[in-house]
Amino acid sequence: MKVIKVKNYEELSATASEVIAELMKEKNDAILGLATGSTPIGLYKNLIKKYENKEISFQNIRSYNLDEYCELPREHKESYYTFMHRNLFDHVDMKEENINIPSSVGSDLNKLAKEYNDKLNSVKVDLQVLGIGGNGHIGFNEPGTSFDQETFIVELAEKTRQDNARFFNSIDEVPHHAITMGIKNIMNAKQILLLASGAGKQEAVKNLIEGPITEKFPASVLKKHGNVIVIIDEEAGKLLTK
Ligand code: PGA
Repeated sequence: MKVIKVKNYEELSATASEVIAELMKEKNDAILGLATGSTPIGLYKNLIKKYENKEISFQNIRSYNLDEYCELPREHKESYYTFMHRNLFDHVDMKEENINIPSSVGSDLNKLAKEYNDKLNSVKVDLQVLGIGGNGHIGFNEPGTSFDQETFIVELAEKTRQDNARFFNSIDEVPHHAITMGIKNIMNAKQILLLASGAGKQEAVKNLIEGPITEKFPASVLKKHGNVIVIIDEEAGKLLTK
């Protein structure tokens, strides 16, 4: 795991966008695994700027998102489908047919999970972007999830619902379930880029970098992957001793 320490969120976003832009220039039909949450918003803003400056194009890029809430229609302002369009896709030349976000509304959720899993297994993601939950989750793989888990329907941890309540009018509106890539799908990517910023991630960053590999802390599995870049800012790295 290569750890890059930067000063603040602005630098973190710029550095992450350089990593992705380099890949897109080398391989104009790269497959990107994308993430939602507050952390990657700055990265996406930088990618939009690079597109506007004609440095990169999304014309042939394909994307697979990590997860999606159940119980929310795609048009809901907090669905991850809407999030990705608002924060990236609507501003670049990405083709709608190249965008893959799990479908999560239907009578047979397990079937939808299997369909997304089959899609993932038919490709090789070149680079997977990840945030990290305060409890160490990656995607919505909450503590205790098996490292062998593939795409599934997850019941969200209370901590995750509380963390995400800021986007909704009240915690009661936060969905209880989501469809998420499993840890096995995430680990299948050729390269992984994990971003962590701010004081809220100090414990998680310490556990990730200095803690043991354990299913109790899902992100720790990344130590078993040979090609991971972790970018943290000063605030997020405050508890590191090494
Ligand atoms: P955040 O979420 O970027 O909004 O902090 C990260 C995550 O929960 O994976």
